[in-house]
Amino acid sequence: MSFPTVRLRRLRRTAAMRDMLNQIDLQPSNLIYPIFVDEGITKPVAIESMPGYSRLPISQIANEGKQALTQGVKSVLLFGIPAKKDEVGTSAFAKNGVIQKTIDELKKNYGEDLVVIGDVCLCEYMSHGHCGLVKDGEVVNDQTLEVLGKVAVSQAEAGADVVAPSAMMDGQVGAIREALDDAGFEQVPIMAYSAKYASAFYGPFREAAESTPKFGTRKSYQMSQGSQEEALREMELDLAEGADMVMVKPALAYLDIIGLAKANFNVPIVAYNVSGEYSMVKAAAQNGWIDEKTAIREILTGIKRAGADLIITYFAKDVKSWLNQP
Ligand code: PBG
Repeated sequence: MSFPTVRLRRLRRTAAMRDMLNQIDLQPSNLIYPIFVDEGITKPVAIESMPGYSRLPISQIANEGKQALTQGVKSVLLFGIPAKKDEVGTSAFAKNGVIQKTIDELKKNYGEDLVVIGDVCLCEYMSHGHCGLVKDGEVVNDQTLEVLGKVAVSQAEAGADVVAPSAMMDGQVGAIREALDDAGFEQVPIMAYSAKYASAFYGPFREAAESTPKFGTRKSYQMSQGSQEEALREMELDLAEGADMVMVKPALAYLDIIGLAKANFNVPIVAYNVSGEYSMVKAAAQNGWIDEKTAIREILTGIKRAGADLIITYFAKDVKSWLNQP
């Protein structure tokens, strides 16, 4: 059967018909809202490369959590900017570190209503800006694992519901699982940044988190653009080490990887719609070159259609009222 008996346009004629046939339902509850908390400020500081986004002082965090909840968003992902950085990331696992205080504040205010996820990495806390310990100019793997374990445990002690290791060290999920279990946090899940690619789209984040490496690049630990099967190995290993969810990051240039993840693993697949992907939309919209809401909806729909169950996105908090409007 073919044209003219078959006419695919028959099912596209009205908005109601198109709606009826929509296969991708976007829910704010499947979106994760990233927040930058800065220990050294008392008022929000706008992030220039991320229009509409600010670094927040701890005093504003409860309010931010409330806004997210009002918008139907159930979870936040926290990044901390400490007042003091050093060579060993001490403030990443300090009992009264910026993230630990923030987690505590959110849990005090919202308890089980809000899923609080801590990003477990060292780059924001290191004077050199790398995600692990540096020895003789190299980011060393195994010594970093112990520190990452300490960071995860300190976040769990502060009340984190989920920890999300993003340093791309080999064995980090296993080390964190063991550290959490040893400390009695066997119920705290790990959302692993498994397939995290070295990407130009992290640029605005690094401005926001003041985490640009002072020398070299992250290419010796983050994945290379051209790798595909390796992403599956990363996910497989993380799952074997105890990851409860796996992540692909960034999202838009890696939709094939999201699709592969969904096809290969029966665990929640998370996609990170990263800072540069946010900034591109904002910049084009500000210039009147694209329609912002339609573009955001199309992007989030595409990421979900590719296979993501959850999307970490800087758009999370503003989309509820029009997310599923045609
Ligand atoms: C830290 C980290 C980065 C992002 C999340 N966690 C940056 C990096 O690897 O440089 C990027 C997020 C974004 O761009 O939105 N390891």
